[in-house]
Amino acid sequence: MKPIYIFIDGKEIECFEDQPLLWVALDHGIYIPNLCALRERAEPYGACRLCYVESEGEDRPVTACTTKVRKGMVINTKGPKALRLARTAFELILSNHPVNCAHCLKSGSCELQRIARHLGIKLNSKKYKKFIKDLPVDETSPIFIYDPNKCVLCGKCVWLCQEKLHTGTLGFAYRGFYRRVTAFGDEPVGLSDCRDKIELVEICPVGAFGAKDRQRIKRIGG
Ligand code: FES
Repeated sequence: MKPIYIFIDGKEIECFEDQPLLWVALDHGIYIPNLCALRERAEPYGACRLCYVESEGEDRPVTACTTKVRKGMVINTKGPKALRLARTAFELILSNHPVNCAHCLKSGSCELQRIARHLGIKLNSKKYKKFIKDLPVDETSPIFIYDPNKCVLCGKCVWLCQEKLHTGTLGFAYRGFYRRVTAFGDEPVGLSDCRDKIELVEICPVGAFGAKDRQRIKRIGG
């Protein structure tokens, strides 16, 4: 296949037609915030709305995970319209997220911390009224703690169970504000067929799944 060239933030990049823009940027050291993207997903999930960029010739910002590269594309990851949308999406996520990094098992490797730094937003932003779900924390697994209050609904753990581990254990339940990831029949995740799956910790970009033994974590996924 013949390579094509595109420009991201003024940098000329060699890539191949139809590659997802998000991965092209990340593979060339250009960070675009993202929570729900996974390279192995057949189709982008497009749920978190954090990966907005501006593409020359387009009226509105586009999401980098759903945009395929085309020859000569000119992309600006720092355009004001794109940043405004990404910041709004991020602050809405924070409005449902208990921020207590000092006591969080993912502190230091949490994607929310990285995105906050990138977008110049404080994790304790008060822009939107805080609504925390106040759900019980599940400590029944021998290897992880599942705190549904910290879940950002990126769907990565659900994908992992359905498409990779083939346990079929996790799925989304309820709607709107109450939407959350649960095990089949709402049993504790730590008692389900996924009870010993450290991969749940590795794929979770935030502190919803945290390892009881932090030494065991390696990062997988996006
Ligand atoms: S990474 Fe593009 S919408 Fe989540």
